[in-house]
Amino acid sequence: MSGIKVDLCGIKLANPVLTAPGPNVRTSMQMLEAVKGGVGGIVSKTISTHPAKDIKPTITRTFFHGVMNCETWSEISYQDFLADLEAVKKTGIPLIVSLGYSAQQLSILGEIIEKEIDPHGYEFSTHYVGKEIEPLKQIALSLKGKVDKPVFMKISPNSPNIENIARHLSEIVDGFVAINSFGPVLDFDVEAIDSPLSSDFGQGWLSGPPIMPLGLRIVYQIAGIQNKPVIGVGGISSGSDAVKYMMCGAKAVGICSAALTHGPDIYGKVSRQIEQWLDQHNYIELSDIYGLYAEKTTQRITGSYNPVINVNDKLCVGCGNCISKCPNHALFMDEQKKQVQVNADNCIGCGFCRGFCPQQALTIKRRTGSD
Ligand SMILES: Cc1cc2nc3c(=O)[nH]c(=O)nc-3n(C[C@H](O)[C@H](O)[C@H](O)COP(=O)(O)O)c2cc1C
Ligand code: SF4
Ligand code: SF4
Repeated sequence: MSGIKVDLCGIKLANPVLTAPGPNVRTSMQMLEAVKGGVGGIVSKTISTHPAKDIKPTITRTFFHGVMNCETWSEISYQDFLADLEAVKKTGIPLIVSLGYSAQQLSILGEIIEKEIDPHGYEFSTHYVGKEIEPLKQIALSLKGKVDKPVFMKISPNSPNIENIARHLSEIVDGFVAINSFGPVLDFDVEAIDSPLSSDFGQGWLSGPPIMPLGLRIVYQIAGIQNKPVIGVGGISSGSDAVKYMMCGAKAVGICSAALTHGPDIYGKVSRQIEQWLDQHNYIELSDIYGLYAEKTTQRITGSYNPVINVNDKLCVGCGNCISKCPNHALFMDEQKKQVQVNADNCIGCGFCRGFCPQQALTIKRRTGSD
């Protein structure tokens, strides 16, 4: 079997799947369920110096298996949460405590949690503290000044210049987590003409599968611009999702929404699927796939040729799925061969039809004199 252990700044994970902070890790009960479910490490629900005062309801399903929420940080006081953290610490599972938000708050909380819990690491959320480099540096420094363990900075996807933030903050923090939920966004019930969320006009933050392409892009950028490890979060619910994040440069991954939707066994399931994926593709360990996408993209040929679609007649079964997907009417059925053919004069090489072929028979090729 392939090796899936991870050394994250000295934090030894049996597998690369962590919890991401949310209602899935609100209390010791949920964190212990995650341990039972096979998680590699716990990142606890964000606590601050004051309990949050969210007005419920705060979570709903939304488009494309997504989740929308208007939850802030924990409504449990940090004093009460100490017992929950203690219970998790006792299991021996790596524990990263998530803290928010200002420099002063992190200084207070860092000192207390370090003394009372002595966790394996810390994560701080930048969700409500702006996007300017200097204040973010002050926040990071205030926590680093109080704790000896690795500190991870969680990136909000709304930040306009993420590479700049990562470059500057990597001088201070030990690693990054990307991404937090995206928004604000809005969805509502068209029949009731009402939002399922209690926030002002029902807006919320989007997570789950719809934000995965955003997370991949941001992890790719952060991993490419600096050398500190990145934990990839956003829309992960399968081993191949996690593998994609690692190919973009993530060393480990975090899951929140899929644990809400599928329950705590999802952590172990994703971990096993990562292992199977590595086995099936003859990779020995995770380091074989870290950053593989970045390596491959440097070899890509784009823009410099005039492409056209190619139908592999060994794979095409003539189902006709692709024909209506071409906005330029470049695909048609050859009734005798019972296979799709290309009108190369109409094909502009946009590539859209490829995603609709169940046989993977459609590829883009360089146009030759005969096309
Ligand atoms: C209901 C809910 C509450 C969340 N609360 C927190 C939080 O307290 N701190 C934090 O850093 N992220 C929080 N998040 C963001 C998640 O940790 C994660 O970054 C985001 O949801 C994307 O991952 P996912 O698609 O696996 O959910 C929350 C997400 C949800 C859905
Ligand atoms: S590549 Fe674009 S233009 Fe060409 S056949 Fe496919 S959808 Fe049509
Ligand atoms: S979708 Fe694929 S298999 Fe079906 S007709 Fe088109 S090319 Fe052939």
